[in-house]
This record gives sequence, structure tokens and C-alpha cells, in this order.
Amino acid sequence: MLDEKVEKIILNAQRNEITEHFIYERLAQSIKDLQNKKVLKQISSDELKHYNFWKEFTHKDVKPDNLNIWKYFLISKIFGITFGIKLMEKGEEKLKQLMKKYLSLCLTPKPL
Ligand SMILES: [Fe+2]
Repeated sequence: MLDEKVEKIILNAQRNEITEHFIYERLAQSIKDLQNKKVLKQISSDELKHYNFWKEFTHKDVKPDNLNIWKYFLISKIFGITFGIKLMEKGEEKLKQLMKKYLSLCLTPKPL
């Protein structure tokens, strides 16, 4: 059984991963270049694997953030896919740092 705080953090990570899965999937569907389409589909598939990795801990399904799917899709269409992806990955990096911080606190032995 997961600590409530840890579970909340992992569920947040799951939501991020499934949201990114759909963003990459949507971007892949929107472009014509076959090589780039293939790369985006591969990243989309990787994000789904990350989602399923976290699901093994929570045993819960999480819905994607539809607003963020639209936001990053539109940003990518207006300013270019590279810009949109970089912006999105910055958000993921912040979440990773937060998770590291909380998980290290949870795994640190408490003084007697
Ligand atoms: Fe990921």
C-alpha cells in the first residue's frame, strides 16, 4: 500500500505520461512526413509505457489532461513541433525533480 502523498505524486506522473502519449499521437497524425510521423509515434508509444510503469504501483487508471493536449498541440502547430515539445518536456522535468525530492524524503529513514 502506497503512502497517500506518494500515491498522489505518482498519479500526477501517470496523468502527465498519458497526456504526453496523446499529444505525440495527435502530432503524429497531423504531419505528412513519414519519418517524423514514425518518430512521433515511437515517442507516443514510449510515453504509454511510462504510464503503464507507474500504473503498476497505483493500480489505478488516470484520464489525460485534455486542456494540455490541446494547448501543446496548438503551440506546436503555431510555433513548430520542436518548440512545443521542448516546452512540454520542461514541464516534465519539473515534475521529475519534484518526484525525486518527495521520494527521497519518503525513503529517508526516520530518526529513532
Ligand atoms: Fe515520459
